[in-house]
Amino acid sequence: MRQHIRNESDLDTLMMDMTIEEKVGQLSQISPSIFGAFGKTMDETIVMLVEGQITPEEFGKLERDYHEDDIRAGLIGSMGGIHGAEMANALQRIAVEESRLGIPMLFGLDVIHGFRTVFPIPLAESCSWEPELARRTAEAAASEASAAGLHWTFAPMVDVARDARWGRVAEGAGEDPLLGSRMAYARVKGFQGDNLRDHQHILACAKHFAAYGAAEAGRDYNTVDMSLGKLHDVYLPPFQAAVDAGCATLMSAFNDLNGVPCTTNAYLLRDVLRKQFAFDGFVVSDANSVAECAIHGYAEDNVDAAIKAVLAGLDIDMSHGTFRDGLINAVQEGRLQIEAVNEAVLRVLRIKMRMGLFEEPYRTTTERETSAMMTTEHLALAREAAAKSIVLLQNKHKTLPLSLDTGMIAVVGPLADDAGNLLGSWSGVGESKDVVTVLNGLRAAIGEGRIVHAVGCDIQDPHKKDEQKAIERIAAAVEVASIADTIVAVVGESSDMSGEAGSRMDLVLPGKQLDLLKALHATGKPLVVVLVNGRPLALPWVKENASAIVELWQPGLQGGHALADVLFGKVNPSGKITATFPYSVGQEPLYYAHPTTGRPAGKIKFTSKYVDGPVEPLFPFGYGLSYTTFSYSDLIILQDTLPLDGTLKVQVKVSNSGQIAGDEIIQLYISDPVASQVRPVRELKDFAKVYLAPGEEKCVHFTIPVSKLGYHDQHGKYAVEPGEFRVFVGTDVQADLSATFYVNA
Ligand code: GLC
Repeated sequence: MRQHIRNESDLDTLMMDMTIEEKVGQLSQISPSIFGAFGKTMDETIVMLVEGQITPEEFGKLERDYHEDDIRAGLIGSMGGIHGAEMANALQRIAVEESRLGIPMLFGLDVIHGFRTVFPIPLAESCSWEPELARRTAEAAASEASAAGLHWTFAPMVDVARDARWGRVAEGAGEDPLLGSRMAYARVKGFQGDNLRDHQHILACAKHFAAYGAAEAGRDYNTVDMSLGKLHDVYLPPFQAAVDAGCATLMSAFNDLNGVPCTTNAYLLRDVLRKQFAFDGFVVSDANSVAECAIHGYAEDNVDAAIKAVLAGLDIDMSHGTFRDGLINAVQEGRLQIEAVNEAVLRVLRIKMRMGLFEEPYRTTTERETSAMMTTEHLALAREAAAKSIVLLQNKHKTLPLSLDTGMIAVVGPLADDAGNLLGSWSGVGESKDVVTVLNGLRAAIGEGRIVHAVGCDIQDPHKKDEQKAIERIAAAVEVASIADTIVAVVGESSDMSGEAGSRMDLVLPGKQLDLLKALHATGKPLVVVLVNGRPLALPWVKENASAIVELWQPGLQGGHALADVLFGKVNPSGKITATFPYSVGQEPLYYAHPTTGRPAGKIKFTSKYVDGPVEPLFPFGYGLSYTTFSYSDLIILQDTLPLDGTLKVQVKVSNSGQIAGDEIIQLYISDPVASQVRPVRELKDFAKVYLAPGEEKCVHFTIPVSKLGYHDQHGKYAVEPGEFRVFVGTDVQADLSATFYVNA
């Protein structure tokens, strides 16, 4: 029976009607793919399917029947993994028309970088340094996902990541909290729009709260331990930005933080999130992380874990069973006050009310769904986003751009004609068949006649034993390449080598790819290395020997066209890396905003360095080349002595000193040379992207409140300390154009 819930008073009335089972139902999410049947686990049910004990149709129907009964009983408040207008409306109709209270469900999915139109992975998109682009792609993804019946995406992933071994660096905006905050804000606005009742938008979910990217040793799900100062200065700002953008939900992280699992961490969920950030949405656990608190050794069992989670401020259990089995018993046995459950239920119902879901539970139709996917506009946006995400890392002797008119090109490598891996991890419902591969993108640009192709090797090395076969494959590729004028080698990682549970203990090109590059290089022809990867890689040989290096990342559906646009000069590359590239994995975690130490690396032995390798990055944060050159001059601070409530105003002249128009990402860093705590050598405090025609000069202005120049002490308390500051402006983090200013008490 449908409810009309429009205000807090209606919510209170509804709450008074609800049984404990119905209340816990609102806190329980079910995901069919995780869901077992026959009272068996999912794995056991799949075994029955595989062994032919049940047919696929029976398997599918069984799952539906099983949870349809629970929906009808009002025991399921949200579902993960459901999409498709017909299915969503059918399940919603059971909840709204057939259950006792008619409370609509939320349907959620990981729409991380696109739904059916797959955009570049977020790490790639962050290299555009264009928050407006991120807002646009998120909005396009929301329009497709909402058309398919979804109300909620488990995105944006806003984890700062400074260790490239961690596979989930692919899903975020890199190592810097300011850039990560701007991207987080933009993506929440893209997903949610300005009105949750709008059927073209969906709820966002900032994740994973918190500091998941600081997993020790870069190993996914591993423990995290850090000072409150670092937590608040580095890992929390993107979450604050997401909340400031109106993010309706957050997801708790799998990891423990300073000994307490995030899912049961009252400091994070209550003190930081609800008190300091004034967040009034709800928090969902990441998958089974409630029950995993027992595995962490922080809870006796699932009931204890469920109690601790609710008391800490967690609202929805994504894996369904733990709250359902735990909370009802806990309340009935007097181990948990019903008020704690009511608080969580109200937060969930309030979001459903704000979406207008009680009045309009059916927000799409099959007709809308059919027309919403992969529209011309979305595909054009995917091509634009992929091109803007490309980073030109090297371009010796102006190897690039290649001629649109002459010259044979050999397109070689395991990712040259690969479709699926260009989608990257978490690719929504994107399909390989819709991907424009590198080979097809180049063919579309210059025709097939000027292109020869060979694979050369696999991404991984399945023929470990068969060394001879590997040698023969590489030789064959070199043979093919020998007739070309330029070699474009497309190498990198498979999409499952990053993303969740995709941590690597090395950062080299996997398999025989480096052997392939060396053999191709031995031909003496210009070698353009195109990288398809989900993290920074350690590529010292490539930097030393390749004529050009193009970081394509995992670019999504339009990757081939976007790369061709850049290789043939239709697009002048403007991207800049947002995660530092190392010479070796041994340098990890490697990031620019580090303290100096008392013995910064230098020529003498007893300084902070390695005896067997460099401390410098292979490519520094904020680095990326263009087909033109930009010059910086006349850095001026308008007022070089400022009060604590003052505003720093900086201007700088930037000119296009080359022959080709292009975009330049101007970066402004600030250092605090002396403070009551050691500070990073410099920190990004603003940036601007400026288009300049050949010869054009612009005066670019930055305005930064002095209040933004502080830091959190070891108690998590923020303050700006008076004293000297230095500002640096330039094309990457190594900018040396600088000026000094002072803040007075
Ligand atoms: C996974 C991921 C999380 C995702 C969730 C639902 O374990 O950690 O990012 O949103 O499960 O798929």
